[in-house]
Amino acid sequence: MAEADQSNVQSLRAGRGEAGAFGVYLHWPFCLSKCPYCDFNSHVRHAGVDEARFVRAFAAEIAATAARVPGRTVSTIFFGGGTPSLMQPATVGAILDCVARHWLITPDVEVTLEANPTSVEATRFRGYRAAGVNRVSLGVQALDDRALKELGRLHTAAEALAAVAVARANFERYSFDLIYARPGQTPQAWAQELQRALAEAGEHLSLYQLTIEQETPFAELHAAGKLVIPDDDVARALYDTTQSVCAAAGLPAYEISNHARPGAECRHNLVYWRAHEYAGIGPGAHGRLDIAGERRATATEKRPEAWLARVEAHGHGVVTDEALTGEERADEFLLMGLRLAEGVDPERYAALAGRRLDPRRIAILREEGAVEITPNGRLRVTLAGFPVLDAVVADLAA
Ligand SMILES: C[S@@+](CC[C@H](N)C(=O)[O-])C[C@H]1O[C@@H](n2cnc3c(N)ncnc32)[C@H](O)[C@@H]1O
Ligand code: SF4
Repeated sequence: MAEADQSNVQSLRAGRGEAGAFGVYLHWPFCLSKCPYCDFNSHVRHAGVDEARFVRAFAAEIAATAARVPGRTVSTIFFGGGTPSLMQPATVGAILDCVARHWLITPDVEVTLEANPTSVEATRFRGYRAAGVNRVSLGVQALDDRALKELGRLHTAAEALAAVAVARANFERYSFDLIYARPGQTPQAWAQELQRALAEAGEHLSLYQLTIEQETPFAELHAAGKLVIPDDDVARALYDTTQSVCAAAGLPAYEISNHARPGAECRHNLVYWRAHEYAGIGPGAHGRLDIAGERRATATEKRPEAWLARVEAHGHGVVTDEALTGEERADEFLLMGLRLAEGVDPERYAALAGRRLDPRRIAILREEGAVEITPNGRLRVTLAGFPVLDAVVADLAA
């Protein structure tokens, strides 16, 4: 490795480099088993995974992407899945080295890795830290063994909390995910579970309402009436409980499903929600790249082996690469930005769309209490508006 490359790799480890705002998402598409509610691009491979071959393919795709968007300074890196904590730490290290060989790295780079909270995976945390990871996000899902079983999880609540303790010992920054609005869950039971979670939480929690995703086993059970989820009123009460309990504990929502101590937000996810630029690497990864004055939406082949074959044949696995129109960019900006408590700048919308948001529609939504204008002129969805966010966005973008 050239001397300059080597020093950049060291910058990644030490968190030194240039300031910038560019995210790199890396998708690891394998899991030990498929959870019945999940429609993420994740696959089970009983025969094992050739990690060295994947590292070569990740390296090729990173190089191909860097050739399209050279000179960027990477501020955030995110290993998502699937289950990235099934990767050997050396695999994670090799991929990070490759990112650092092609782009500069900002001094305070955030490097997150999603992990499943089993004891086997927790033993790798120290290795991930040595490889350059500085934040983990654990899929705890529930603190109730019966619920974990119903969700098809391979760990108990005690095992998950033990993994959280290992995360805390190894990383200054960690987060975990819980799924609520589960079958039969009452606001009282959820408030208690959330209090327990907050006692274990660091600076950040992701709290997702159970969504019935099409073509999952949960969708079949739901359609057959064998899985009953809370109705709208109970779901609303569960949502309100989430907001009040977390805010009282100092972790208010900064996004519809994400809570953090102010300043401890996941900076990588903010790149998406603030419509900044990011590269998507690995099977089924999406990117948004600014090239020659256009914003390009990219997506790679989803199937892991087909992605490998494509990368080995063409140097990248990109199957979609289209320039977004101003209107599409503006819609995306609204859709992502209104998820945030900080809301959006209407001037940026107007610059992208070539037209202003309709003041009459804003006035009606304000009257309904669904949106508000902040003192610095930003448009944001209120707590009352968040449960109907999709309808609010559709109304504003129409
Ligand atoms: C891609 S998963 C990665 C985490 C890791 N594989 C795990 O499961 O521990 C990210 C998160 O999405 C959430 N999630 C996945 N499917 C969901 C669904 N149908 N409804 C609500 N949340 C879901 C879970 O909380 C999960 O931790
Ligand atoms: S929830 Fe996580 S572990 Fe379960 S299938 Fe989805 S990505 Fe894999």
